[in-house]
Amino acid sequence: MSSELIKECAKRRQILRDKMLPNSIAIVPAANLVTRSNDTEFPFRQDSDFHYLSGFPEPDGYLVISNSSLMGDVFSALFCLPKDELAEIWQGRRIGVDAAPADYEVDIAHPIDDIEVGLVSYINGHENLYFARGHHGPSDVLIDEVLSKLRNAPKQSQIAPNCEFDIRTLLHEMRLFKSDFELSIMAQAADISADAHIAAMQLSEVGKNEFHLEATIHHHFAMHGAKSPAYSTIVGSGDNACILHYTENNCELEDNKLVLIDAGAELQGYAADITRTFPVNGHFTEPQKALYQLVLDAQLASFELFKPGSTFKAASDKAIEVLTTGLLDLGLLSGELQDNIEQQHYRQFFMHGLGHWLGLDVHDVGNYKIDGADREFAPGMVLTVEPGLYVSASAEVDPKWKGIGIRIEDNIVITDDGHKVLTGKVPKTIAEIENLMAK
Ligand code: GLY
Ligand code: MN
Ligand code: MN
Repeated sequence: MSSELIKECAKRRQILRDKMLPNSIAIVPAANLVTRSNDTEFPFRQDSDFHYLSGFPEPDGYLVISNSSLMGDVFSALFCLPKDELAEIWQGRRIGVDAAPADYEVDIAHPIDDIEVGLVSYINGHENLYFARGHHGPSDVLIDEVLSKLRNAPKQSQIAPNCEFDIRTLLHEMRLFKSDFELSIMAQAADISADAHIAAMQLSEVGKNEFHLEATIHHHFAMHGAKSPAYSTIVGSGDNACILHYTENNCELEDNKLVLIDAGAELQGYAADITRTFPVNGHFTEPQKALYQLVLDAQLASFELFKPGSTFKAASDKAIEVLTTGLLDLGLLSGELQDNIEQQHYRQFFMHGLGHWLGLDVHDVGNYKIDGADREFAPGMVLTVEPGLYVSASAEVDPKWKGIGIRIEDNIVITDDGHKVLTGKVPKTIAEIENLMAK
């Protein structure tokens, strides 16, 4: 674990302490292992909030953060799996309670078996509890049990918090704004992912399978330091591209079809999220060109609205205007531009949002509205811009458009005077893609 991450986590815990009301305690659970099939588990992925505040990589832990002196010198405590020779032979090494405080800069660590008694003692006397109710079922049960013990203790010997606040309100606002440390990791994740897309474009040919392109992408991620994808990779050729979260990735790549790849690496917990769409054989057909250029025009037009003070709504309105105008020109929609926009006719072909926050979660946390109003972009926010058009085989349109699904997705960071594109190195104009694939 990098010392830079540990310092960063300590800083985040201090910011959280300062944001909480006086005399408050926060409880944050780690993720658990999830069974995949008998005696085997899904690869472990740490809970994003827990990772953000602790950097601690093991399952089944709890982080406790206080801003009161009620706990003596303890302002951060970790409950974690204890060292256990037999368990470590079977399941893997553990950091353990002796090493955790120094390694992760927490004041103290306890074995996870002491969690209930430990939380009763730590929470006792705090005025406010910050916790994410509904996020992790076992923790809800545990916290209820602990609060009940505190409330029912004899003769007011123990005091339960008067108020419980949702920790996500504070924490997710913090996570929305990326530090320089986070931005540098996200730039690397974007770079690795961009090169993986280039490798997949270069590998594509008629007769290969979607899973060959998926394998190339994942191989590239791993060979460049990103062990896992940030989400299930989508490789959809032909009509499969019209299934937004298609992950079967098991069809043969056919001549004169497009293939849509939505794939991003996870690096040190942070996601990239790139989509490119290109012809299996390296040459766009005329209908494919027309729709592809329209999606690209929509993306480029919307880019102008990714700057401080602007909003997703403003950028999205711009993309929708460009897409609807183009769909009318191509005969996929008919009637007046404004009517089509107001009645959202474009949604037959563009049925998802223009983008989302990006960070530790691919659909990252952070409010999109504040007091009911669209949230303004501000420096340090990282997000995706991903217009698309999907004309499925069952759409009632001229057959030449059928089975064409296109999305172009880039990752950007909002800067003081606009934005910076993190994923620009993957070709996306028609000429750039055809040139790369001709090589
Ligand atoms: N890969 C999921 C998304 O683009 O939102
Ligand atoms: Mn995506
Ligand atoms: Mn996305």
